Amino acid sequence: MDLQEMFESMKDCDCCELSKSRTRVVFGCGNPEAEIFFVGEAPGFHEDKQGEPFVGPAGQLLDQLLNSISLRRKDVYITNTVKCRPPGNRDPQPEEIAACRQYLRFQIEHIKPRLICALGNHATKTLLATSTGITALHGKKFTRDGVVYVPLYHPAAALHKPPLKSDLIADFEKLSAYLSEIAKTDPPQRERAPEQLGLF
Ligand code: URA
Repeated sequence: MDLQEMFESMKDCDCCELSKSRTRVVFGCGNPEAEIFFVGEAPGFHEDKQGEPFVGPAGQLLDQLLNSISLRRKDVYITNTVKCRPPGNRDPQPEEIAACRQYLRFQIEHIKPRLICALGNHATKTLLATSTGITALHGKKFTRDGVVYVPLYHPAAALHKPPLKSDLIADFEKLSAYLSEIAKTDPPQRERAPEQLGLF
């Protein structure tokens, strides 16, 4: 099954409460062979209407950050920990993240990115199974079974708190260096599914 087939099979998903209030499932967008994969928190108002992740103000900042390291949206893959908008943009609940994890796993398994960026606390906790907050972790790299994970501040947080924006810009510069290091190494031999590797 490829990404499009998976989307077709889950676009009426009712695995959690979020299905009751969403307009559209926001599966993900970008390059199905991307080396770099971004995971946000959850679709917001604009994403829910358009069916594409990061198309509102936070998405505009994400696009600028990508451009700052000579990447475009079509070079990377972008998705969220949950694929449906939480009502009123509340935080996704642990049971909603757990119900949606199957789709995130599928995307990672299928795309096989070399660098996974977790945008904000929810994505970081989901991907790295850590209780340490983003303030301590942002910009650092964690290698698990040959895949590099980098927690980053969420672009929406940077829009609300300008000091975080300079950290986010600096962390994006580090991504370029991490990508150059990765390019010198062979891709990991991943014969087992991410959950068996203990990735998340
Ligand atoms: N914030 C997110 O975490 N994801 C989106 O898709 C949009 C805003």
